[in-house]
Order: sequence, then structure tokens, then C-alpha cells
Amino acid sequence: MTEAILLVGGQGTRLRPLTSHMPKPLLPVAGVPFLTHQLARAAAAGVTRIVFATSYLAELFEAEFGDGGQLGLELEYVTEKVPLGTGGAIRNAAERLRSAPDEPVLVLNGDILSGLDIAALRDGHRASGADVTLHLKRVDDPRAFGLVPTDADGRVTAFLEKPQTPEEITTDQINAGCYVFTRAVLDRIPAGRVVSVERETFPELLASGAHVRGVVNDCYWLDLGTPAAFVQGSADLVRGKVASPALPGPVGEALVLPGAHVHPSAVLSGGTVVGPGAVIGEGTVVEGSVLLAGARIDARASLHRSVIGRHARIGGGSVLDAVVVGDGARIDEGNELPPGLRIACGAHLPAHGVRTSASAAPCTIAHSGAPHASTPH
Ligand code: GDD
Ligand code: MG
Repeated sequence: MTEAILLVGGQGTRLRPLTSHMPKPLLPVAGVPFLTHQLARAAAAGVTRIVFATSYLAELFEAEFGDGGQLGLELEYVTEKVPLGTGGAIRNAAERLRSAPDEPVLVLNGDILSGLDIAALRDGHRASGADVTLHLKRVDDPRAFGLVPTDADGRVTAFLEKPQTPEEITTDQINAGCYVFTRAVLDRIPAGRVVSVERETFPELLASGAHVRGVVNDCYWLDLGTPAAFVQGSADLVRGKVASPALPGPVGEALVLPGAHVHPSAVLSGGTVVGPGAVIGEGTVVEGSVLLAGARIDARASLHRSVIGRHARIGGGSVLDAVVVGDGARIDEGNELPPGLRIACGAHLPAHGVRTSASAAPCTIAHSGAPHASTPH
């Protein structure tokens, strides 16, 4: 299995405003664009050529990774002018594959941080003669995912994307977004129209009697699609809870990237990342957070499980818990921001601009330039 398709065309809606100017797979995670971790793992499993299926902010992928030479990979980019959905994107990218019809091809969702042994998934696929093999993961709450029950032989018996009712939740096994397809099966996906691999291709393969295999593996696994998961994944990499061949430094309580300035009295913990050129002031406490390039945190601020966008500024004494601050936003001193708050890129919160209240918490967004963060999402 020397070829892979990487699905990276989604808009990353749940991660806004971080994804307003940067696609989710390129957001820095533990110091490097997230995809670097996935590319390195695919390469370690013997993949040498990867076709990126891009759509949203497509040009930024090639600008970041070029021809892949630096990673020891050959990279190609295909762009959907109109997003074709996961299945349509796979079909479109498959045009560029060189593998023979009976060869296995790796297909990856572009937002999964995983410790899966990809080579073992490939070997099992070959040995079983399956048409498709899916990595499955057991989770406590499967509602945000695709449900994939299997029989005693590991054959997939159904595929139910994003179940709506309690009756539909018949298993805790979910689609983990990593597939090995026999090449010929990819070529049968209809071309030139929107197709969901989860809602259309997998159910149709099952209906036609194809051999669809599910392999449950309880390795480390996280979909980085939400702010909470994004900070969690970054922190887990920094603390060594999941290994990555692409980590730019040793694992520990914090990763401080070159060009950052951290005051000696600041306390960094919980797998915090301090991006290049970021500045952390005196007596500041930062726990389990991600500070992107050029972010500035003034004295005695306290940050927990938060993401601070590029060149955003957090005023002294502010307290942020599970808050996402967009690029270039300014939070003046002494603000206490409640969990779940998102501050738009370039927004300005004056001193004490937000009254914390539980009802305002879960999904509040300040629009760019808004005087304070009270506009409901
Ligand atoms: N090129 C392209 N075009 N890529 C797309 C498109 C598209 O139209 N739509 C989505 N993608 C990419 C996204 O960029 C992402 O890498 C991947 O496909 C999956 O999309 P998400 O938006 O992250 O889907 P999800 O997390 O809600 O659900 C998917 O992943 C779950 C596991 O994390 C599904 O595959 C679920 O079945 C699965 O359980
Ligand atoms: Mg996802």
C-alpha cells in the first residue's frame, strides 16, 4: 500500500474562528501543522504518495507542504470547485492514483489524531480479501459519529451516520475515519457529483453484498473537530500520551517554540504550546492551552484549556477557561471569560466587557469588530 487519499476539504465549522483563515488540518498542533503528524504516520506505514482532496482554502495546502520532498513523500493536490462530499472527494482524487485495481489504497479523514498501526490494518485487509476495511473505535457517546456494528467475523452489518434517536444507537463502535479500500472499489463511486462515503457509499456496498470489514482497535484516537478536542489533542501530543514522528521537541508539560518569550515566573503546564514569537508575561498561569504565533499574554493572566489565535492579545489579570480567541483579537485587562466563549478574529473586548453568566456560555461569538462578546451564535 504505497498510495493514500487525504480528505481535507471540510470547512472546519465547529472550530471557527480558528478556521476562518486556515483550514482545520493546517492548524498548528504541538508546534506543526496538524497534518504533519498524519503524513508522518502514513509514511511510517510505507505510504510514499498522497493525493490531497482539497476544497476550502485549497491553495494553502500546497503552499505548506509543496511536493512533499521534505517529508520524504510525493504529494499531489486536487481541488473541488464545489465540495463533492467525502465520497465525491475520494472519487475525484482517485483519478490521480497509480495503484493497480487489486492493490490497497489508504483513505484518511484529515482531522484524526490516532495511534493506529496502519500497516497492521493493511495486512489484515489483504489477508481477508475484503473490499474495504474500516478502523473502528469504541466511544462513550457515538452520536457525533458514524455507527458501525459488526458481526462475530468482523463483517460490517450496517452503517448509520450521526444517529438521531436513542433507538438508533445499537453499538458503541464508530467509524474512526481511516479506511483501506481495494482500488477497484474506489473507481465504482459515481464521478462528478456530491457523494457521502458514509451515507451513500458504505450502505450501498453493504446492500450489494461487498465484503466490508471493521477492525475495532482501542488505540489512542481523537477527532480534532471541536475546540475542546483540538486543545486536548495538542496537549496529549506534547505530554507524550500519543506518539508522533513529527513532534518538533521533547515531550513534557509545555512546548515553547523558538522565538517565544516566557517570563521566568510564568507557570506553563498540562501540555501547553507557546507558538513562535508569542510573549507570556510575569506571573501568568497557562494550563493545557495553545498559543499561536505572536500571541501575547500580559501579566498575571490565567488561561486554561484555551486557544489564543495568531497575534491576539490577552490583557493582564484576565481569566480564560475553555475560550477560543480568534486571530488578532484584543481582550483588555481584567476580563473573566466563561467556558465555551469564542471571540471573533480582530474583535476587541474592552476592560470588563463581558459579564460571565452560565446562559451566555456555550456558543457565543463576538463578530469581528464587535464591541463585546454577547452576540448569540
Ligand atoms: N475534499 C473534501 N470535500 N473533503 C471533505 C468534504 C468535501 O466535500 N467534506 C468533508 N471533508 C473532509 C473533512 O475535511 C474531514 O477531514 C473529513 O472529510 C471528515 O469530515 P468531518 O466534517 O470532520 O466529518 P465528521 O467528523 O463530522 O464525521 C466523519 O468522521 C467521523 C470520525 O471522526 C465521518 O466519517 C464519521 O462517520 C466518522 O465517525
Ligand atoms: Mg471530523
